[in-house]
Formats: sequence, structure tokens, C-alpha cells
Amino acid sequence: MKKVLGVSFGRHYGNSELILREALLGARSAGAEIELIRMQDYEIKPCRGCQVCTQRMMNDGVENLCIQKDDFPVFRDHLLDCDAVIYSAPVYLIRPIASFLVMADRIGPFHDVGGLAMLGFKREDSPIDQRLFKDRCAGFIAVGGAARPQYMSMGLTLMNDATYPMHIKVVDQLAVGESNSSGEILMHEEKLKRAYQLGINVANNACIPYEEMKWCGDFEGTCPVCHGNLMTLDPGANQVTCAICGIQGDLTMKDGKSHVQFHNLEGSRLHIKELEFHYKEIFASLLAFADIEEEIKEKVNQYKEQDIPIVRPEKKAR
Ligand SMILES: Cc1cc2nc3c(=O)[nH]c(=O)nc-3n(C[C@H](O)[C@H](O)[C@H](O)COP(=O)(O)O)c2cc1C
Repeated sequence: MKKVLGVSFGRHYGNSELILREALLGARSAGAEIELIRMQDYEIKPCRGCQVCTQRMMNDGVENLCIQKDDFPVFRDHLLDCDAVIYSAPVYLIRPIASFLVMADRIGPFHDVGGLAMLGFKREDSPIDQRLFKDRCAGFIAVGGAARPQYMSMGLTLMNDATYPMHIKVVDQLAVGESNSSGEILMHEEKLKRAYQLGINVANNACIPYEEMKWCGDFEGTCPVCHGNLMTLDPGANQVTCAICGIQGDLTMKDGKSHVQFHNLEGSRLHIKELEFHYKEIFASLLAFADIEEEIKEKVNQYKEQDIPIVRPEKKAR
């Protein structure tokens, strides 16, 4: 039986959870086994950037080694176990709540399936959990209090941070505003129905090959790969870059409407080839660092001798 995992980042029985429950019931109606994680039950500490996880993994094939002792391994186990995941997160300050971004950082580079496959870890006798490599799809739900969409502008798009390292295909997404107080979302019946459909769409795309998974969102978006509208515009040029995918395209106006012709879709961060290429870049920079490590240590030592006062919290005062 296909497994769909729902992860809510909001309050218990708050808006994100309530609408996610609709999506999960939709997934169940399409034949999936469902499970709900409330991230507020989990202590997930931020990545400290020590890089122990990536170095040990690349050198020795040791996985899931993190200096942080917290509930991340429990979450990770359920994520690896599922065939599809639905993330439902409140929008805080126009982007997903910080706990979502903390989780995304922790998934980060050491779940980079492109790099791991390239390093030869995709094989039966590998020390790396092979569930990482299964084709998986996702749905996103972003929930905000705002009535105007410009207060939720990066809500859905930044949720790609949690899926692209693992090469999870996003097949549907939904943004719901005007849901500030806990439970207010229940007044948006159409959105609840749409969430139920999102759950069905996600379940229908689970357990099929990645190439056969289909986008079921309500709009195509500017970017043909991530279906997002978050673009950067190069000053003085007619070129735009998708902030999520990194692909570039030429911007033209026709009949008063904007159009972007993108090039090199395989260069998208969401494409396995780009994941592999990026991993090669990182790998090369880590190897090159060995040659300059001593020189850099000496340079850093000069900073350690500076008399800039450092303010540290008193542990007792917490
Ligand atoms: C610190 C904070 C920042 C917020 N920023 C935004 C925002 O930028 N845009 C928005 O639409 N709603 C914003 N909200 C409202 C929440 O997204 C809204 O209350 C949401 O329903 C919370 O989800 P929950 O009920 O699942 O916890 C903010 C709420 C808080 C507490």
C-alpha cells in the first residue's frame, strides 16, 4: 500500500493542520495509507554548518551522522518510509515558518540523491539507506492570515527547499490566505475541498516512476519546471532567472502580456543532472580546500587576535 506522510508546521488543530487533515483524507480515499506529523511535537535543532555529516558520508559512507541530538532521526525515518509527502506550513513574514526552513536545512546536502548516486552509494550493499533513492512526490500547502497575496509571496516557492535535494517531484500546491486565528480556515470550504483533491493528486502520483508523475496545480506559473512566479530580473537586460530553479529565460512582451522563453531546462536545480553537477562543484571545492587549508588557518588566527569584544549569553540567565 502506498504511504502518504503529512507534516504540519502550525499549531495543534490550527489552520495548517486542519487543511492538511483534509488532504490526508483525500489521499486515503485514493487508496493510500496516511500518517500525520505535527512538527511542534518535534525538537529539530538548526544545522550548525559543521559539515561532519557530508564529509563522513562522502569519505566513509556513514550516514545520518549529525552533531545535533534531537528528534530529526525520527522525522527522517518516516520521511524515508513514505512514498509521498504533503507539507503544510504557515506563512510567517512572507515565507514558510522558520521551523520549516530549519527542517529543510537539516535535510539539506546529506540527502542529496544526485551526489550520493554519483558517489556510488545507490546499490544494494551500500551503507546508505536505499529508501532515499525511491521516486517520491510531494504536495505543498501554505497558509497565511493575509487577505492580499503579496503577504504570502514566498510561502509556496520556498517550500521547494525541502524537496529538491531529495529530488522529490512536487505535483500540486495550494495557498490559502485569510486564515489568521486558529481554525479560521474552516470557513473556506472551497479551499478545504481543493486540499482534499490535492491529497488525491499526491496519492495518485505516488509509487510511479518520476518521469510519469504529473503536475496537477491550478496554474502553470512562469517557470515551466517549478511552476513558480518568483523571478529575478537582471537590470538592463531582458533576461530573468527563476529564483528556485536557477534557469534563465528571455523576457518578451506580446500584446501587453509578459512571456519568458526559458533555455536549458535540464539546468534546473530540480533536475537530477543539475543536482549531480552541483555536487561535483562542491566536491571539487572541498578537495581544493586541502591545498589552502594551512594558509587560511594562519589568516583566521590574525582575526582571533583582534580586540573586538564578543558578547556571550550567560547560561544561567536563560
Ligand atoms: C510571527 C508571525 C508572522 C506572520 N506573518 C505572516 C505573513 O507574512 N503573511 C501571512 O499571510 N500571515 C502571516 N502570519 C499569520 C499566520 O500565517 C496564520 O496565523 C496561520 O494561520 C498560522 O497557521 P497555524 O494556525 O497552522 O498555526 C504570521 C503569524 C505570525 C505569528
